[in-house]
Amino acid sequence: MSQIKTIGLLTSGGDAPGMNAAIRAVTRAAICNGLNVKAIFQGYKGLITGNVVEFKSQNVSNIIQQGGTILKTARCEEFKTVEGRKQAYDTLVHEEIDALVVIGGDGTLTGARIFASEFNYPIVGLPGTIDNDIFGTDSTIGYDTALNTILDAVDKIRDTASSHERLFFIEVMGRDAGFLALNGAIASGAEAAIIPEVSTEVDQLEEFIKQGFRKSKNSSIVLVAESEITGGALHYADRVKKEYPEYDVRVVILGHVQRGGSPSAYDRILASRLGAASIDALLDGQRNVLVGIENDKVVLVPFSKAIKKDKPIDPELIKVLKSLSI
Ligand code: F6P
Repeated sequence: MSQIKTIGLLTSGGDAPGMNAAIRAVTRAAICNGLNVKAIFQGYKGLITGNVVEFKSQNVSNIIQQGGTILKTARCEEFKTVEGRKQAYDTLVHEEIDALVVIGGDGTLTGARIFASEFNYPIVGLPGTIDNDIFGTDSTIGYDTALNTILDAVDKIRDTASSHERLFFIEVMGRDAGFLALNGAIASGAEAAIIPEVSTEVDQLEEFIKQGFRKSKNSSIVLVAESEITGGALHYADRVKKEYPEYDVRVVILGHVQRGGSPSAYDRILASRLGAASIDALLDGQRNVLVGIENDKVVLVPFSKAIKKDKPIDPELIKVLKSLSI
């Protein structure tokens, strides 16, 4: 018999489409298993300040289709301190919360891992981020929707790029990970992607120009992953202006539009499966694990592995993009 009677639930870090579907799934799966649910608002910040509300099934009605997170979110500096985490623990004791489900990205899981080992407290994590940069899961909640938002934007930019015969650098999010840029480029038929995972010894711009895309095409789109390693889209546009002044260059930074919108069917199903599995995992005595998806099967990955290891980019994808963009 599990000792867990009440679970707490929070979203933290950058919001991602599908977080609400996950909140709904966790809440309903918990209630279905006879557990109480306490929603913690504003992520770890709300855990520290005690921003807690009891949730019933109706609290999560009509949210599966909504982007953002009804629980609000925050990037919390205080939770990085021992004092902050102690206050958070006091809230859990005061609210009689026996275990936590946290939904978020790398920073959220890192916080969870530290907290869980400091207080010997059961936590299960769900990967909620558009970046798809969490090791141990093929996809993160929000990634598919963000990818589709990128496609919608790139398709529109393609119309004007080809009309004016211009070279566009489009910067996409990813926080030092190139999944959105690379798969966005393949799916939109872009000419190239500049991503931080490719060795810095390779001049990705040089390579792209050398391919001689101008010989066969009169407009081009290059997706650039935001990152200090790549330098971002503006950096490449400046270089082209100086080094290849014959090109008519424009820059689009897609920004936070990528984080909004109604989640795709894929993200809703993923969030529902992982949310339900998080409750099964807790009732099964699992703790300090990420609930992910691999080969369409739910998997549990220890926090230590999910956080420490960088998720690699499949070189086959780079090859596909190169060979199809001639
Ligand atoms: O981690 C998600 C993400 O959208 C990253 O892609 C991006 O670098 C970052 O969050 C932006 O964070 P903020 O909204 O706090 O500026």
